[in-house]
Amino acid sequence: MYTQLLFLVCIAGYCVPVFGYPNGAISDSCDTMLPRHGNNILQTSTPPYNISVSRTTFSPGDVITVTIQSSSSGFKGFLLQARSVGGNRIVGSFTSTNGNSQQLNCGQPNTALSHTNNNIKTSITANWTAPTGVGPLRFRATVLSSYSTFWQVESDILIALQISNDACGSEKFCLSSPANCSPNNTNCMFMSSVPSADGYVFEMSGPTSGYLAIGFSDDQLMGNDDVYLCTVNSSGNILVQRAFNTGRSSPTILTTYTSASVVTRSVNGILQCSLITQTSISTQTRATAGSSYYVFLANGDSQENGQILKHATRPIISNTRVDLSSFLSSGIQIGGNRVILAHGALMLVAWMTTGTIGMIMARYMKSAAGKPFLGKALWFQVHLFLMILTVILTIIAFIMVFVEVSGWVNGAHPVLGCIVMILSFIQPIAAFFRPDPKSERRFIFNWGHSINALVIKVLSVATIFLGLQLIDTSPTLWLSKVMGGFFAWEVLFYIILETNMRIKTKEVKENSENKIASETIAVVVFICGNLAFLISLLVGIGSS
Ligand code: HEM
Ligand SMILES: *[C@@H]1O[C@H](CO)[C@@H](O)[C@H](O)[C@H]1NC(C)=O
Repeated sequence: MYTQLLFLVCIAGYCVPVFGYPNGAISDSCDTMLPRHGNNILQTSTPPYNISVSRTTFSPGDVITVTIQSSSSGFKGFLLQARSVGGNRIVGSFTSTNGNSQQLNCGQPNTALSHTNNNIKTSITANWTAPTGVGPLRFRATVLSSYSTFWQVESDILIALQISNDACGSEKFCLSSPANCSPNNTNCMFMSSVPSADGYVFEMSGPTSGYLAIGFSDDQLMGNDDVYLCTVNSSGNILVQRAFNTGRSSPTILTTYTSASVVTRSVNGILQCSLITQTSISTQTRATAGSSYYVFLANGDSQENGQILKHATRPIISNTRVDLSSFLSSGIQIGGNRVILAHGALMLVAWMTTGTIGMIMARYMKSAAGKPFLGKALWFQVHLFLMILTVILTIIAFIMVFVEVSGWVNGAHPVLGCIVMILSFIQPIAAFFRPDPKSERRFIFNWGHSINALVIKVLSVATIFLGLQLIDTSPTLWLSKVMGGFFAWEVLFYIILETNMRIKTKEVKENSENKIASETIAVVVFICGNLAFLISLLVGIGSS
């Protein structure tokens, strides 16, 4: 096995392969790609070599032919690797070699290629297989014309044919709604960005037959934004353009990218564009081009000629400035806008705590809290108070989000939320007009009120889950997990309380006045747990 061989040592024209570098030493060369010769000097003049690739796009598993070519006097040695553009990770594997080259182990088998002899070569060709879970990549080689003279060269950037969220946070910055969604999903709005030496690689994906736009801005308002558009015209052609938002009107088109630097796709109603830019981002009002911007993501319809119309909904806006040069720290995703977070917090208090406890009072505490209080049974007063509080909190939260989000956001959350709102309004209104307890028709109210309550309960749980996904920015989606824990806790106590109630109705009530009822204990324990879940979710939302 020659996998430990990296560079040949040549003395007086006689070359011996250097074997058995200690592992640490070989990974040194793997990382820096510099030969471990004594006095090595990296040449900074224009390299007499270049790397060409058979394709500039890839899907996982694709085999790509890579060639190192000399433009003048040839080369003696080389080390070739594929590197992710974001993060500079060694990726993929070399599959076939010939007598002049051999595969090396740089962390994984076959991740690098080098020479086997010091004959002068004018070109070297190898096959390389693309891995999964990588963003844009490029080939990089160190090429030696002699023992101490060498250059480093890079190929063009290769971009993924299909946009995915695989390398988000590790090799590219991603902004998406719902948070962390996969661009294959029909409701996923997605963009990613990777800085390269002279510009960026951008990806955008989303459900539209019109256009997608990403924007970079110094504030969270439209206007003075550097914009990249992916537009379909009526002939079905997809155009990728750079534009500038001067105000809140149709952006001015600046450049149309040629097919050499873009990849476009439109499948099952999802439009996707990837592009390689060779410019820095510029918002014209800024004196110096930095790399921290608010990021926008929008979609909408386009006219026949491909000119864009106003976005169909309010665009997605990042909640902080994003440092596009350090995609690794991309914790921030969807606009965890304060008003939207407050909406979420109020809804949680209303539906996890006040509403739930209010319903439990009415169903299970009738006998344990049956003593009169201010003229009515205690359970009823608590139920009434908590339910009115729930409705008030819901209305405030609803109005907040309605004012803040002037359009309809993607997905089922707002639809379910509206249904829950309407059904909840029916509850107090029907309760107000309920028949007298002795009336023959009272049972209709009782059944209707309970069934509606159950439907509201189920739908509200679903709505909260979907809503949390919209604001959960953690990669582990822990908010949804805590919510799942709360839901399990709730179901457990419903079972306990329901069983307790059935047993009790069978027993002859020897009402022991001074003993605390078992349901009271259960409800108190439930409320404590409930508050613990609520507080951890609120803390989670607060840090979103
Ligand atoms: C024909 C094209 C466009 C028109 C006529 C337009 C118009 C508007 C208007 C009137 C608003 C104010 C809020 C509202 O009424 O909903 C707005 C908001 C917004 N637009 Fe556009 N827009 C267009 C394209 C774009 C593009 C390409 C982007 C970049 C991604 C963008 C980003 C935004 C953002 C982030 C907001 C929300 C922040 C704000 O209110 O300023 N717009 N747009
Ligand atoms: C759509 O774009 C293509 C490419 O730019 C162009 O050739 C074609 O004429 C356009 N179609 C319409 C209807 O504008």
